[in-house]
Amino acid sequence: MAATSVFTQSISTIPSSSSSSDVSGKSQALKLGVISSFSSSSSYSNVFKSLRISCGSSSTSNGGGRGSCLGTKMVSSPSVLSPKFLDFESTVFKKEKVTLAGHDEYIVKGGRDLFPLLPDAFKGIKQIGVIGWGSQGPAQAQNLRDSLAEAKSDIVVKIGLRKGSRSFAEARAAGFTEESGTLGDIWETISGSDLVLLLISDAAQADNYEKVFSCMKPNSILGLSHGFLLGHLQSMGLDFPKNISVIAVCPKGMGPSVRRLYVQGKEINGAGINSSFAVHQDVDGRATDVALGWSVALGSPFTFATTLEQEYKSDIFGERGILLGAVHGIVESLFRRYTESGMSEDLAYKNTVECITGIVSKTISTKVYFLTLIIMLSLHRNCGLMRPVYLSLFQQGMLAVYKSLSEDGKREFEAAYSASYYPCMDILYECYEDVACGSEIRSVVLAGRRFYEKEGLPAFPMGKIDQTRMWKVGEHVRATRPKGDLGPLYPFTAGVFVALMMAQIEVLRKKGHSYSEIINESLIEAVDSLNPFMHARGVSFMVDNCSTTARLGSRKWAPRFDYILTQQALVAVDAGTPVNRDLISNFLSDPVHGAIEVCAQLRPTVDISVPPDADFVRPELRQASN
Ligand SMILES: NC(=O)c1ccc[n+]([C@@H]2O[C@H](COP(=O)([O-])OP(=O)(O)OC[C@H]3O[C@@H](n4cnc5c(N)ncnc54)[C@H](OP(=O)(O)O)[C@@H]3O)[C@@H](O)[C@H]2O)c1
Repeated sequence: MAATSVFTQSISTIPSSSSSSDVSGKSQALKLGVISSFSSSSSYSNVFKSLRISCGSSSTSNGGGRGSCLGTKMVSSPSVLSPKFLDFESTVFKKEKVTLAGHDEYIVKGGRDLFPLLPDAFKGIKQIGVIGWGSQGPAQAQNLRDSLAEAKSDIVVKIGLRKGSRSFAEARAAGFTEESGTLGDIWETISGSDLVLLLISDAAQADNYEKVFSCMKPNSILGLSHGFLLGHLQSMGLDFPKNISVIAVCPKGMGPSVRRLYVQGKEINGAGINSSFAVHQDVDGRATDVALGWSVALGSPFTFATTLEQEYKSDIFGERGILLGAVHGIVESLFRRYTESGMSEDLAYKNTVECITGIVSKTISTKVYFLTLIIMLSLHRNCGLMRPVYLSLFQQGMLAVYKSLSEDGKREFEAAYSASYYPCMDILYECYEDVACGSEIRSVVLAGRRFYEKEGLPAFPMGKIDQTRMWKVGEHVRATRPKGDLGPLYPFTAGVFVALMMAQIEVLRKKGHSYSEIINESLIEAVDSLNPFMHARGVSFMVDNCSTTARLGSRKWAPRFDYILTQQALVAVDAGTPVNRDLISNFLSDPVHGAIEVCAQLRPTVDISVPPDADFVRPELRQASN
């Protein structure tokens, strides 16, 4: 195995501090977030300490109650697991070291200038079979084909689909044809390929793995874009057959964004979606370079190492959390709260969805370009108070969101953050453990089987998720949105969203994930890949362009976040529960902010553009067919 995993013994933890409290007025919660101050300081105290613990030692954290008592205990308790340190060797690509929050990690930077290395990386491969044409299939197949063509490689990229699949027509439209030998039957494609990218739904992988394995050539390479299949095999005490290599390249973004940014990246070298990679089995020493070549060919700005197990835990968890499910839950609960308190529906939509998908995502993701700044200043030219907000966007990250608020806005943010952090963590923690123990994987496999009529019971395909009043209001808001408008920065919404993001980061950190994985799964994928889709066309357009696994999980977990925020967080704000100052000071000094800045510098800042006629999205979500 070329990629080796070595556990480090050093972990970082955010500082423990004595509990303190500060009462913040509950009435702040429903004020319009007009910003009146601007702090130019981007510095934050990077105070954290390293604990020396032995790998696998268990945490003593487990508060008996809620609120600041539990809060202080959990925030200050040591990590459950130390982050995995994953090193690898490549004979083709340059490995680089990055230091994230004090931890050294290794990555490979991408770029179109690396395409000439692909023939070397793919040595021994004549045909790459891309199996499936859902979200990832079209993106990966086309990116690979384009990159190999640019490298003047004669490796064939062939699509394999199940008999009678409606996707044959889509694949043909993208230029893959039976006549040219680039489109065919699933099993014939698997048995004829040297590298098989298995991009059918995870539930279908679980139901068909035996036949897939039996069709594969000895010494060929199985490529996955998820660790799900390993999780499923593990739950039955199984593993992959020993006569094939098993690798993964897992884009940290939906297929349409993998394709869209690759195309945009033709003009800005290095634009794309980051990927993790894993080498689970390596029968002949080629696996690491093949995986890295695959990732570079997809257009990943940087590729970081993981294991299949860490991947499925963080990925399935992340999409149920802030990436899809939790963000959906947040906006549903806040829209209801704002409208019930008398806010107009349009404004409530702007103060929830537009705030998160616009100004908050933009601020976290990137410094605003000069041109955007001019547009925003001119749109809000009559509101002098908004100037500092837009000027502050030359900063980036979660701290920039907070720092761009007025003193009143900061208090509102803090009240929302303090009340939401532990309720969000409660559901996130449960979700992580459901994923880690295999329950969530089992749930996805069983749901996949209910798509079809059986045992005398009807079929239950996935239902729609954007049919309520809120999303109709959204259609109207988007239709009248001035070009380039990023929506209002509403402090309460920002406080809930950032609390959720930080709670997710903390759960992944406590569970021993690398910072590359944590930041991609909790932040970069949200603001760079997914939220732009909700900004463009609403929640279904974001969720349903993702994998079947993600779509099912989002539907299952979104109501849990809606419920807990409504039942606990918002009630606490209304009851005037004191702000947990420890949480706020830990947020301000968390080492993750520095790590995010490092990750941001590893990719060019390219905004994903989702035009109305986007042809890179799932057919059923294209505007013409709506
Ligand atoms: N989508 C994402 O955002 C994303 C991101 C990272 C990783 N991934 C991973 O990428 C892989 C592919 O996911 P995806 O989202 O692209 O696909 P998906 O939407 O989950 O699945 C769609 C594909 O699966 C095929 N399929 C479904 N049931 C099948 C069966 N019984 N036999 C054969 N084929 C079957 C479909 O065939 P038809 O075309 O015939 O309907 C379709 O091509 C998964 O491992 C996923 O976890 C996805």
